[in-house]
Amino acid sequence: MSSPKRLSKLALLLAGAMLLPLPLTSTPVLANELVVADCVKCHDRPPKDILEAGESHRTEVSCVDCHEGHAPKSGDDIIPSCSKCHEGTDHFELENCLGCHTNPHTPLMITIGKNITEPCLTCHTDQMEQLQQHESKHTQQDCSNCHRATHGMIPDCTQCHSPHEKTMTQVDCLTCHKPHMPLQVTYPDDISSQKCAACHSDVLKMLTNSDAKHKTFSCATCHQKVHKTIPRCQNCHGETPHPATMHEKFPECGQCHGIAHNLNK
Ligand code: HEC
Ligand code: HEC
Ligand code: HEC
Ligand code: HEC
Ligand code: HEC
Ligand code: HEC
Ligand code: HEC
Ligand code: HEC
Ligand code: HEC
Ligand code: HEC
Ligand code: HEC
Ligand code: HEC
Repeated sequence: MSSPKRLSKLALLLAGAMLLPLPLTSTPVLANELVVADCVKCHDRPPKDILEAGESHRTEVSCVDCHEGHAPKSGDDIIPSCSKCHEGTDHFELENCLGCHTNPHTPLMITIGKNITEPCLTCHTDQMEQLQQHESKHTQQDCSNCHRATHGMIPDCTQCHSPHEKTMTQVDCLTCHKPHMPLQVTYPDDISSQKCAACHSDVLKMLTNSDAKHKTFSCATCHQKVHKTIPRCQNCHGETPHPATMHEKFPECGQCHGIAHNLNK
């Protein structure tokens, strides 16, 4: 198969060299050779696609950089492999480039198939690190289970989970959870106590029904930043709000004051 091709190339080169006084290193252009302007005479779709969304495949290369020759003259396949021009990174070692870059004439229109994780890691490593360092049931999932169909798509948590309480929205979910380490619940100082009450309604009720000054505080004033943080009373009231001898005798504040949510004053 390859020897006729080589022969015809050689013949072309020789013919070119004889017609035009060019050095053998430059490619001779023959009158009967196809040029880019010819392609559109017989092919509609590729020129149209490239014009609309060819990106670098429009600006940096032309039809004939990729498709060298043409059937039936070039007996061999004139479909280029991507590695002809893209080599040298992990990303370019992947299999099945056209599985994602489905149309080479619109290279950035990317389709993400099912069960894809490894290929994403050729560019994104932080998310995998978070998923692995903070093991959760999200760790076992493929990236494409959440980031589906198109590159960069961000899913709503509520596509797969019901909210803790019906007024909660996606913004709320991300206030407390990070998708790649969902069990590390953290929140800002100004989070509303109503959000906590989705699960701790009894505590909110007790606090607001009490008549101590603590009732004016939000949950996060005391339970700061990381879920399940318990503050010491002394953080705010100093080590010895009462005479030291009294604290020696009764080391727990709660012995007299009950609990923070409902103080005995
Ligand atoms: C005179 C009409 C004509 C022109 C001009 C033309 N083509 Fe084609 N091209 C065809 C036909 C017909 C086929 C189908 C041939 C076949 O299936 O073997 C084809 C097939 C192709 C294929 C598919 C080859 C394959 O292996 O599947 C490519 C790629 C292609 N052309 C590129 C080009 C490019 C690039 C140009 C401009 C440089 C061009 N064509 C100009 C008629 C043309
Ligand atoms: C960056 C490289 C690249 C450029 C530039 C490029 N092509 Fe292609 N083209 C390909 C590849 C790769 C395929 C095979 C796609 C596949 O297998 O699905 C292809 C397929 C084709 C085909 C056959 C399948 C089809 O879609 O009809 C034609 C015809 C074609 N190209 C014409 C052109 C024309 C005309 C141009 C310029 C306007 C062009 N190509 C520019 C890489 C390129
Ligand atoms: C003839 C050379 C050539 C071939 C073959 C080729 N490319 Fe490219 N491609 C380029 C150049 C040049 C650029 C722009 C520089 C860069 O990003 O590397 C580019 C850019 C791209 C881009 C980024 C587009 C942008 O505008 O940012 C993608 C995606 C891409 N190529 C995918 C492919 C895929 C997939 C294939 C195989 C189907 C392929 N290329 C084949 C030359 C080529
Ligand atoms: C799992 C899907 C997937 C596969 C498989 C894949 N790519 Fe990509 N590729 C992407 C995504 C996503 C981007 C990022 C696009 C962006 O930046 O918007 C990208 C970007 C690119 C770029 C431009 C950015 C850069 O790094 O230069 C090129 C070129 C490219 N891919 C070529 C290839 C080649 C060649 C192959 C096969 C060896 C391939 N891709 C396989 C999804 C894929
Ligand atoms: C070739 C490199 C490359 C590959 C492969 C790649 N990405 Fe990206 N990705 C990028 C770049 C670059 C950006 C930033 C683009 C931007 O800012 O618009 C990005 C952005 C994203 C974003 C954020 C979008 C946003 O709105 O903030 C998500 C989500 C994403 N990628 C998921 C994935 C997933 C899932 C995969 C595997 C299926 C993947 N990426 C494969 C390069 C890549
Ligand atoms: C359980 C669903 C889920 C899984 C699995 C998942 N992500 Fe995400 N990812 C999200 C959500 C939701 C966001 C949006 C976060 C935000 O807006 O703050 C996101 C954001 C991103 C971003 C944007 C930047 C950032 O970190 O916020 C990238 C990039 C990304 N994911 C890549 C990946 C990759 C790569 C994988 C696989 C290793 C993966 N994701 C697995 C749900 C998921
Ligand atoms: C594509 C579906 C999907 C999306 C989107 C998704 N999750 Fe999940 N998530 C799951 C599945 C499946 C589980 C495991 C459920 C089970 O086994 O009970 C899970 C488990 C969890 C868990 C418990 C983890 C454990 O190890 O017990 C939390 C917390 C969680 N998700 C929060 C979120 C948040 C917050 C978001 C949005 C940022 C989100 N999820 C987006 C599918 C998803
Ligand atoms: C105020 C903070 C907060 C907000 C807002 C929040 N979560 Fe949670 N979420 C938690 C806490 C705390 C847990 C329990 C963790 C534990 O059991 O240690 C949890 C557990 C989960 C779980 C696993 C247990 C279960 O109930 O199935 C899922 C799934 C989950 N959240 C999804 C969501 C989604 C979806 C949203 C948005 C609609 C959301 N969360 C909003 C704090 C929050
Ligand atoms: C999705 C339900 C959920 C949400 C929302 C939630 N929690 Fe919790 N919280 C729990 C669960 C479950 C426990 C463990 C209860 C147990 O161990 O008996 C817990 C325990 C606690 C504890 C006690 C830890 C300990 O060691 O006893 C504190 C303090 C706490 N949560 C504060 C908060 C605060 C503050 C918020 C709002 C920012 C909040 N929680 C939101 C479910 C939730
Ligand atoms: C985040 C800081 C903080 C924490 C933690 C805290 N307190 Fe307070 N507490 C305050 C502030 C502020 C006041 C109001 C002081 C004022 O207005 O004079 C207060 C008031 C009180 C009062 C007076 C009640 C009233 O209504 O006048 C008592 C008693 C008290 N705290 C006991 C405790 C005990 C016991 C604990 C631990 C179980 C505790 N506090 C934890 C900040 C805190
Ligand atoms: C003034 C500080 C303060 C405020 C405000 C506060 N807590 Fe607490 N909370 C504590 C302290 C201190 C403890 C440890 C038990 C004790 O000493 O009273 C505690 C214990 C808890 C516990 C575990 C024991 C139990 O009672 O179930 C939960 C859950 C809890 N808090 C949730 C909340 C929620 C939800 C809010 C808001 C509605 C809130 N807390 C407001 C200081 C506070
Ligand atoms: C032996 C019982 C007892 C113990 C133990 C105790 N207290 Fe008190 N505390 C009191 C009494 C009684 C008052 C005075 C009530 C009043 O004046 O109305 C008081 C008042 C306070 C006040 C309010 C002071 C003011 O000026 O209004 C604070 C704050 C307080 N205690 C914090 C603490 C803290 C923090 C601890 C633990 C380190 C603690 N107490 C331990 C009995 C106790």
